[in-house]
Amino acid sequence: MTVAPQFQFKDGILHAEDLSLTQLADTYGTPLYVYSRQALHDAWLAYQQAARGRDVLVCYGMKANSNLAVLNEFRQLGSGFDIVSGGELARVLAIGGDPSRIVFSGVGKQVWEMKAALDAGVKCFNVESEAELQRLSDVAVEVGKVAPVSLRVNPDVDAHTHPYISTGLKENKFGIDIEKAPEAYQLATKLPGLQIVGLDCHIGSQITEVAPYLDALDKLIVLIKALAEQGVKLKHLDLGGGIGIRYTDETPLSPTDLLDRVFETLAENKLDHLQIVLEPGRSLVGNAGVLLTTVQYLKHNDSKNFAIVDAAMNDLIRPTLYDAWHSVEAVKPRSTNAATPLYDVVGPICESGDWLARDRKLALESGDRLAIMSAGAYAFTMSSHYNTRPRAAEIMVDGDQAHVVRPRETLESLFQDESILP
Ligand code: LLP
Repeated sequence: MTVAPQFQFKDGILHAEDLSLTQLADTYGTPLYVYSRQALHDAWLAYQQAARGRDVLVCYGMKANSNLAVLNEFRQLGSGFDIVSGGELARVLAIGGDPSRIVFSGVGKQVWEMKAALDAGVKCFNVESEAELQRLSDVAVEVGKVAPVSLRVNPDVDAHTHPYISTGLKENKFGIDIEKAPEAYQLATKLPGLQIVGLDCHIGSQITEVAPYLDALDKLIVLIKALAEQGVKLKHLDLGGGIGIRYTDETPLSPTDLLDRVFETLAENKLDHLQIVLEPGRSLVGNAGVLLTTVQYLKHNDSKNFAIVDAAMNDLIRPTLYDAWHSVEAVKPRSTNAATPLYDVVGPICESGDWLARDRKLALESGDRLAIMSAGAYAFTMSSHYNTRPRAAEIMVDGDQAHVVRPRETLESLFQDESILP
């Protein structure tokens, strides 16, 4: 059993749904991202079932994977989108996404991005500072619109995750200190270009327990009651994203674990009229994708064995950036024994930080294919051209059909817009 049900061994070969990864690698080359359509649908279903028919708007945190094919699956399933840039807005509009199901997050929104979102008619701006409130109001007045806003508050809770992806602590750059939130809401009521619609928080990513969410929720409820006393009424409560996935042996909370407790707590506090908004990214796509790679060379020195593969940190930066663990499966495993060595799986990039996995027991030969698992989230979207490496192709598998949803970049395309001095 691998970490994802849609990626299983059949006749000794790892498959994506009904297609052999060996065949996909032969046909499309490596490195190659392979996504499972069914896995996206299953992940979505977990949120839909957790909603129990109540007013829950899931806005896919599309920074995790913004390929148009992925976005379009979620649009068809009824998802909204959590965007963080004018670029992400353009992607949602390109697939015909409904702007009234878009929330616009992010700590540094620029004027052109605010204008584009106002023009499109997004559901809400999640505002992160008083300076941003002021700017948004000015921009809205200038274009003759009223901007719907939520304040993103920072509840100062520890999400127990990697420091780079923890966002709900006082020391982080995100959100408005929850103690100062009533003042910021008062400011928002006075600004002519704004209409208050909600309250927002996002405490971090790859969260595995429900407790940090409930700690945050308790603090948000105190704030909602204080705001009501000041006459500020909210329509929705956005709890952000952050639900973790299984990379190795984690047992993360499920959407049901979270929403059941949220519904219960809101009911106890007579707040169940509030619409709940969620912004999950990783939990919708992370285990729906793998990164396929081919072993180029095996290299052994006194203390280490290296499998040098054709994927690299430019394709998947998570291991070196966060010390993240991704399972590595041989697509067609050879038998292992006590003498099978431990390999560091590394790429060809000229950096010692260019590694994908460390100390993995693998029986390998040059030419073997490996699948780096759980590469559906924060993999392609964080990729780069470092070392003038074209970005890998992306394939979406649907049963026994493979669709190229982004072709491999050509070398020429990497520098076609550059020019030399006369
Ligand atoms: N909402 C906001 C405001 C966010 O900042 C994020 C992620 C999400 C939603 C979605 O969070 P998720 O459900 O995916 O945890 N590159 C890192 C993760 C960075 C997350 C940034 N914000 C990684 O590869 O682990």
